[in-house]
Amino acid sequence: MASGDNREAEINPSEVVASPFQSFLNDLHLKYQSLRDGKVATYIPELAKANPDLFGICAISLDGRVFEVGDCHQLFTIQSISKVFVYGMVLEDRGRDYVLSKVGVEPTGDAFNAIVLDERSKRPYNPMVNAGAIATTSLIKGAGPTERLNRMLDMFRRYIGHSDIFIDISVFMSERTTGHRNRAMAHLMHHFGMIDEKIDEAIDLYFQQCSLMVNCHDLAVMAATLANNGINPITGEQALDSSYVKDILSVMYTCGMYNFAGEWAYKVGLPAKSGVSGGIIVVVPNQIGIAVFSPLLDERGNSVRGVKVCEELSRHFGLHMFDLAMGRCKVVEMLSNPKKL
Ligand code: DON
Repeated sequence: MASGDNREAEINPSEVVASPFQSFLNDLHLKYQSLRDGKVATYIPELAKANPDLFGICAISLDGRVFEVGDCHQLFTIQSISKVFVYGMVLEDRGRDYVLSKVGVEPTGDAFNAIVLDERSKRPYNPMVNAGAIATTSLIKGAGPTERLNRMLDMFRRYIGHSDIFIDISVFMSERTTGHRNRAMAHLMHHFGMIDEKIDEAIDLYFQQCSLMVNCHDLAVMAATLANNGINPITGEQALDSSYVKDILSVMYTCGMYNFAGEWAYKVGLPAKSGVSGGIIVVVPNQIGIAVFSPLLDERGNSVRGVKVCEELSRHFGLHMFDLAMGRCKVVEMLSNPKKL
């Protein structure tokens, strides 16, 4: 199953706010719905079944206001977006210095699945590419595979804010039986002492984290939690020690969009992370969390409509970090005056 059941029944329409910001999202959705560029991911066979028409945009402010349009309650697998949150968990589990000794923080300019380690240190370059994410996952603490999986699911529950989460077993098995590149990287990293001998367990846990089912609304809550310094704005629960939020946002900013990270930083200017199911999360620190879902991908594995939507949102509302820093962000003003947003 490439995308799961609809959690439509859970939506409370009164949570969706009508406003100028909402109108802008509606217009963006209308504008890009007809854009058919890109292809759904096929290298994981189950993902080839994704519906290319699906398209949702959701933004959640730190006071819990929800702005959404399109397919925001359609479930799909989180894929690489999970890497952000597992990185945070491992920073808490092991501390910054230890994690840094096993996984670097350098952008690669290579594809997300490149079989490459830093020549000198033998570390994977960063926690956002597959090699770095597998190494990160191998650092999750727990007495055995079940405890590590349960701790990881608990962590995701804190960000998502409800307990109705599960793993898509078909996507997990599909990746588990075809993910030879990832397996090869894990063995290479074990050879260089970057991951321990529990290679198959680490790989399974990595495939499980990638197969977690989420919808666009869930992703926006997760992004808003990072924007809110690690506190879920809907539940008020602390999902992550606030002192690690900056670490996560930094690697999202420099590495989250892979070999598009430089152009993304230039045009959109915000910490973000994409996944091959078509999700993108974007964090506007201290302001808002944004998620876009559309399975049609460009050649780097980023959602085509997702990138377009984020570029326009950033340009229109002055969301770029340096617009934000220079006081040119319109959302800051709008957020402080709810009637305007
Ligand atoms: O390991 C993989 O290849 C996938 N589970 C995740 C890749 C991914 O989402 C890359 N993102 N654009």
